[in-house]
Amino acid sequence: MSKIVITGGAGFIGSHIAENLAKNGHEIVIVDNLDPYYSVDLKMKNVKTVLNSGDVTFVNADITDLSRMGQIIDSTVDYVYHEAAQAGVRISVEDPFKPNDVNVLGTLNVLKASLDAGVKKVINASSSSVYGKVKYLPFDEQHPTEPVSPYGVSKLAAEHYCRVFYEVYGLPTTSLRYFTVYGPRMRPDLAISIFTRKMLANEPITVFGDGEQTRDFTFIEDVVEANKRLLDNKITDGKVLNIGGGNRISVNCLIENLRSITGSKSEVIYAGKQKGDTEDTLAGVDLGNEMIGYRPLFNINKGLNNFVDWFKTEGDTHGFDKQVNVASPGSQKSVTSVVHLIESYKKHVLYNSN
Ligand SMILES: NC(=O)c1ccc[n+]([C@@H]2O[C@H](COP(=O)([O-])OP(=O)(O)OC[C@H]3O[C@@H](n4cnc5c(N)ncnc54)[C@H](O)[C@@H]3O)[C@@H](O)[C@H]2O)c1
Repeated sequence: MSKIVITGGAGFIGSHIAENLAKNGHEIVIVDNLDPYYSVDLKMKNVKTVLNSGDVTFVNADITDLSRMGQIIDSTVDYVYHEAAQAGVRISVEDPFKPNDVNVLGTLNVLKASLDAGVKKVINASSSSVYGKVKYLPFDEQHPTEPVSPYGVSKLAAEHYCRVFYEVYGLPTTSLRYFTVYGPRMRPDLAISIFTRKMLANEPITVFGDGEQTRDFTFIEDVVEANKRLLDNKITDGKVLNIGGGNRISVNCLIENLRSITGSKSEVIYAGKQKGDTEDTLAGVDLGNEMIGYRPLFNINKGLNNFVDWFKTEGDTHGFDKQVNVASPGSQKSVTSVVHLIESYKKHVLYNSN
């Protein structure tokens, strides 16, 4: 069994990877600064779930702090899953500096600490946003990368740092380009979450553009499986792999699917296209299949049914609009209350007040 650091382990994807690996007997260290981009309560709920699934420690730390990363990623650590990021295309258009700080500098710090500690491999969460302008579909890993948002630029820079740390310094790294991930515990700022919440309340939903833009949606369990297959795997060192659902549907079609699952009467309102949004995405997953046997098992209907079932019982009914956001004066208060919330897990929680 291995000791595995998971940055961003309080978030959507990181918490699923952490929970799964903990249940499989690995020792897990979650590193997350509980960034208030979306509800800190949701993140703490994720942490509690993971703390209950095995040998897990939670460390509240910021990946932009190199010396802190050096303390956490020490010579006892075998693997690092690097999921922490300022995610979100639209917020990056509003503020390109924060995604750069967290996604580029933060990744560099994680890589440097991992190199110094001699970890066996860093598995980096990248994004389909690195492709940007569509030259052809499906995107294979050789497709030109011309991001159309500051977020895409930051994820591409992080990917290149991972490759260079392998080629120049010999640190094994693999980047996985995720294509719009959804499922239980998903980020409340993502379309499937927003649409589901509004549809269950029969509230109007807003679509940016004409709704004919297409997306390849990937169910969280497929993403976790791909990540697990990277442990003890040498052939992917220095490589980049697409992790997608392998199919695409339009936003209008997605809404109709959700409508038939929820029975919603929500009206659809069309608004102007948003800056930074890609027109279409579709993952070519042949390389992932060849190298790690990756094969997505969840088609969109199976995944949406699973998600809506979860949302009805455990979903975030408050919505992203009403969450504490980065600039909110309530942010610090929220983080403080979370610290009290996790008091009962004190044995497993190393809280850094820096
Ligand atoms: N969800 C998707 O559809 C998707 C698609 C492509 C790529 N990705 C990538 O996958 C990864 C996980 O995404 P997610 O959807 O789970 O996002 P998320 O926001 O739910 O999780 C990211 C976590 O990182 C933490 N974090 C942010 N800044 C930090 C910092 N400075 N120090 C420490 N922790 C910090 C946040 O608190 C959060 O818990 C990210 O790297 C994201 O860019 C996600």
